[in-house]
Amino acid sequence: MTKKSSYESDIDLISPNRNISPITTELDFQKRLQVGGCVLSVLAERFGTPLYVIDEATIRMASKTYRESLKKYYPGESLALYASKANSSLFMSSLIASEGLGLDAVSEGEMITALNGGVAGDKIVLHGNNKSDRELLFAYKNGVTIVLDNQHDVIRLQQLIPAGSPPARLMLRFTPGIECHTHEYIRTGHLDSKFGFDPDELESVLISLKDVNWGVLMGLHAHIGSQIFELEPHRDLINVMTDVLQLARGLGHPVKDLNVGGGLGIKYVDSDKPPSIDDWIKTIAEELVQTCKKKNIKLPRLMCEPGRSLVASAGITLYTIGSKKDIPGLRKYLSVDGGMSDNPRPITYQSLYTACLADRPLELTEQIVTIAGKHCESGDVLLKDFKLPKCKSGDLLVVFGTGAYNYSMSSNYNRIPRPAAVVVNSGEADLIQKREEPSDLLRFDVLPERFRA
Ligand code: LLP
Repeated sequence: MTKKSSYESDIDLISPNRNISPITTELDFQKRLQVGGCVLSVLAERFGTPLYVIDEATIRMASKTYRESLKKYYPGESLALYASKANSSLFMSSLIASEGLGLDAVSEGEMITALNGGVAGDKIVLHGNNKSDRELLFAYKNGVTIVLDNQHDVIRLQQLIPAGSPPARLMLRFTPGIECHTHEYIRTGHLDSKFGFDPDELESVLISLKDVNWGVLMGLHAHIGSQIFELEPHRDLINVMTDVLQLARGLGHPVKDLNVGGGLGIKYVDSDKPPSIDDWIKTIAEELVQTCKKKNIKLPRLMCEPGRSLVASAGITLYTIGSKKDIPGLRKYLSVDGGMSDNPRPITYQSLYTACLADRPLELTEQIVTIAGKHCESGDVLLKDFKLPKCKSGDLLVVFGTGAYNYSMSSNYNRIPRPAAVVVNSGEADLIQKREEPSDLLRFDVLPERFRA
């Protein structure tokens, strides 16, 4: 079960979030990297670069581990929902549907993508701290569970759902007041957060929702943040959430679901040591069982919403190295044909990544380089002071761990078209996202009549 390469030694085949690379990563007979049975440089030749590559087996394994761990440690009902903000597409929705998971959406766009990919409406939940009327109605009409985030949601739904129509299925999100160690921008559980009801207003909100005829409160939700390596905050979360569960049920709400959000971290660089999916679920499930016993509460259906830990390590990005700038005694820049428009995470969160040469992954790393993107911005750097073998223009660079929050946060900054994406499995590669062409970027531009010749 152990493979060796320059970027990684031990592979955890069961919990893909603990690996830098997809679980199917191997060397071919020429010692070139291959993923899902496809040689990366062959993919680059066929589909061009930059190219997002998604390994199907890695996502399926992570999904299976979530499902099986829930079953193993939780005696009640359970459901893992994929947080589709991590990477939303028809392909992803269809894959998630085939794995029997539910899905978390935050917009009409994510909802239609999920529905069109085959995820049933009753397995989707809609989040958002400022949902539009259109989004609320769309969710209602498609049987999507709506997560009440604030009073605005309550007021709008009350007006939008016609009297006498079936009630909407609701969850209630609150801020649990739990601190965890992650980047400030992706922390959501502490009290100063724009998401969810404040704990102080919960009781009055629950009372006000008691006898409404437009909705029925089926669940509670809280999410403490993302890319978290500690298990303790989720244990604390269970304690806080079960108090609210008791309160809600005591008021007569038929609350069945307890949704603990997502947040399990992944390994981007060697020093990252995230817990396994199994450990994460075990901690949450055992804590919930014990707490329910202590507080004498009937077991709820346990839901969680992993995004990153389901897809990040399944994804890699292939770039072609182009120009070089050597500033003696200072820094050596190598520029690639993508950058902050296909991966805005380094410039946004100072995120770290691991990379290597696709065709020479085992070669000695004898130079320290900084991999720069091609955008007109000095901060457009993908990897700073990173060790690589000697390389030249035209060499293919692989950046690992790009399956989550890369494509979904991509932009057309500098009018750079988005890359294509392919899924690989057992030696087959299929296009799942067409490459944008520069001319595609004119699609939504409108030239007013008086400017036309
Ligand atoms: N549920 C809710 C309500 C969320 O807000 C999130 C993530 C998740 C689940 C999934 O969390 P995960 O399992 O992926 O950690 N763009 C940032 C991450 C933002 C996360 C937003 N919410 C990044 O690139 O690191």
